[in-house]
Parts: sequence; structure tokens; C-alpha cells
Amino acid sequence: MSTHTDPVTSSLEQYRSDFPALHQTHPNGNPVVYLDSGASAQKPQCVIDAVSRCYSEYYANAYRGVYYFGARIDEELENAREQVRNLLNAKSAHEIVFTAGTTMSINMVAQGWGRKSLSAGDEIILNVLEHHANLVPWQMIAQETGAILKYLPLTADGQLDLDQLPNLLTEKTKMLAVTGMSNVLGTLPDLKSIISTCHANNTLVLVDGAQLVPHTDVNVTELDIDFLTFSGHKLYGPSGVGVLYGKENLLDQMDPMLGGGHMIDQVFQDHSTWAALPAKFEAGTLPIAPIIGLGKAIEYIQNIGLHQIETHERLLLEYAHDKLTTLPGLQILGPSIKHKGAITSFTIEGLHPHDIADWLDRTGVAVRAGHHCTMPLHEHLNIHASTRASFGLYNNHSDIDALCEGLEYTLQKHKLI
Ligand code: ALA
Repeated sequence: MSTHTDPVTSSLEQYRSDFPALHQTHPNGNPVVYLDSGASAQKPQCVIDAVSRCYSEYYANAYRGVYYFGARIDEELENAREQVRNLLNAKSAHEIVFTAGTTMSINMVAQGWGRKSLSAGDEIILNVLEHHANLVPWQMIAQETGAILKYLPLTADGQLDLDQLPNLLTEKTKMLAVTGMSNVLGTLPDLKSIISTCHANNTLVLVDGAQLVPHTDVNVTELDIDFLTFSGHKLYGPSGVGVLYGKENLLDQMDPMLGGGHMIDQVFQDHSTWAALPAKFEAGTLPIAPIIGLGKAIEYIQNIGLHQIETHERLLLEYAHDKLTTLPGLQILGPSIKHKGAITSFTIEGLHPHDIADWLDRTGVAVRAGHHCTMPLHEHLNIHASTRASFGLYNNHSDIDALCEGLEYTLQKHKLI
């Protein structure tokens, strides 16, 4: 067991008890060690209770019922929207659109903004760190409009090579889409610098915040972000809900991707007009209970403090890097700790990542293995797959010890030590 007692970690220990899934025993008898929060985070009891209360006490459809349940649902949804606004420090709740998740949010911008704003020869800047969700939608709209995709190169250690950015920007560069934190390397791009360089060129910036928002304070107004997307399920909230933040003037100009109920102002036989923001982008019945759960999750992490969470996870990352690098044949991917967030991906010579994950599971440790929806990044790294441990606020030093002990066990079983 670890003997680490740093003050931040000790004060966060109490929060670990809020996550019922972590207090179980794996069928093989080991305690559950969850190191896959980058894929989806566990849920605190208060989020589970909020979802359960919505269904058991006051459930109804949203924005449609004038009766007691309906009014209560509307009030809870708007409270959750205000909580997201507050989390991101957006100027107005009209700039917060509820979606099904990050993937839906990025597709909505690529199609809704792209169809109106892109012409043949216009340019979109991407990079190989991106998750497929921040590549494929841009490929699709580029094929449809004749726009051109350009790639910002990486440095040797897996950061964005920002020295190259001014050379890539031209008067035709309309959009740069970038992750806030790589889901594989953990790389934290310098968003402030990217955004000011792009804005000086009249280029918009979309930030995929799926991995960033759960780990740090993101201030869209201070950073001057044009579009930001994230998912509820990685932020200790339910799955099925995500957020699209967009500056009000940009969302106003954009077309909705989905048509249907609630997003209209008037419907005629041959055409329709759109509702005001954010309803214009919220066609159909929203994921009601998940949104309410997301509001509760935001309240929960804000009570702890994102700064506190960030400090705690950084200490864990340092501890993980120190321990992992002592294992024979293990190579950590990506930049040094200074330039990355709470994710560590690695390869081990002589072992396939899927075998590593499988053997770790036998010791109760959950990690993700594969290409992590980043095939171009793995191609760039000249590997097919990697193993990833990703941290949440509930992880502690003992979890890292369990990971390293599980890896040693795996190495022993394969006669590599
Ligand atoms: N995007 C999630 C991940 O990186 C699923 O695992």
C-alpha cells in the first residue's frame, strides 16, 4: 500500500466514498481499481440520486407541460443550463446548447456552421492528436463543400508545433479545431496562444473539451473560445448528454443540424423558421434526466473545486510517471508532465496493449487499450495501439501502486522480468 499523505490527496479521500461503484470487489476477489475515467467517469451518489429523483418524483417532458411536473422539469433544466454557463464562465445561458455528447456537438458545428460558411478552397486546420470525433465531421464537411484540410505538425514529444501555425494560416483559413487535452498523450495545447494567433487571422477556433473540462477550470470568455464542446459522462454526470458552447453571434448565424419539435418558431407547409437560442439547436425531447444529473455533477465538482482536483491529479500523474518508468520495456507516450493532463498512455516491449489490459483486469485494474479513436495519432507514432491509464478525482496513490503491481505481475507471467 502507498504511504503517500500529501494534503490534497488526503482531503480528497473523503470524496472517494461518494462513488459507490468504487467500493466493490472484482469477481476475482480484488478491489476495483478504476483507471479509465478518460473513457467515462464513475458517478457520485448525489448524481445517481438526482437522476432517480427526477424519474420518481417529478418526471415529465420538457418545455411542453404547463402542469406541476412539467414546470418543475423546465426549472431544473434551466438551473442545469445556468450551472454549465457558470462552469464555463459563458456570458449568457443562450450560449449553452444541450446535445447528446461531444460527438454530436462537433457535428452540429461542422454541419451547421460549415455548410453556411465554407466554400471550395477554404481551409480547416486539424492535427493528428485529435479524437476521431474532431476529425471525421470536418472530413465530411470538407468533402461536401470542397474545403481543404491542413494539419498542424506535432513536435517530437507530442505537442502541437505552434511555431508552424503562422505558416499554415492564410486568408482562406476559416476554422481551427483542436483538443483541449489529448485523450491519449494527455497533451495540453496552449489554447491562449492558438486562439490569439487564429483570431488575428479571422480564423475561428473550436475546442474539443471532452478531456479538458473534467480536470481544470475552463473560462471560455477569458480564453475567447468560439466553440467549446464536452460530454457529461466524463464529468461525473450521466451518459447521453453533452454541451455545445458557442458565442451568441456565431450560434445565431449557424443553421440547426436537426429539425423537429421545439426548435421552431413557425412551421408552414413548405418551410419553417427557427426558435431563438438555444432552442434552435435542441430539436426533439432533450435527455431530461441526464441534463439534471449533469447539473448535479457540476455542483459536486464545484464544491470540491476544480483547482483542488487539478492539483490532486497532477500529483497522481507525477507519482505514476515516476513508478511506471521503473518497469522494464515500458515507454510512456507524449510530452513531459509539465505539458500534459491526467492521462498516461504507454507501450511495453513484447506485450500487446490488449493483453496488458486483459492481465491487469485479472488483478482488478481497469485501463483502456487500443487506438482510443485516434488512428492517425497511432499511425504517426508508428504503433497500432497503446495502453492508457486515465485518472479522476477519486483515484489515489494506492491505485497507481495497484497498476504497477499488476504490470509487474503481467511481465512476470510473460517471463519478461
Ligand atoms: N473518447 C473516449 C476515450 O478517449 C471514449 O476513451
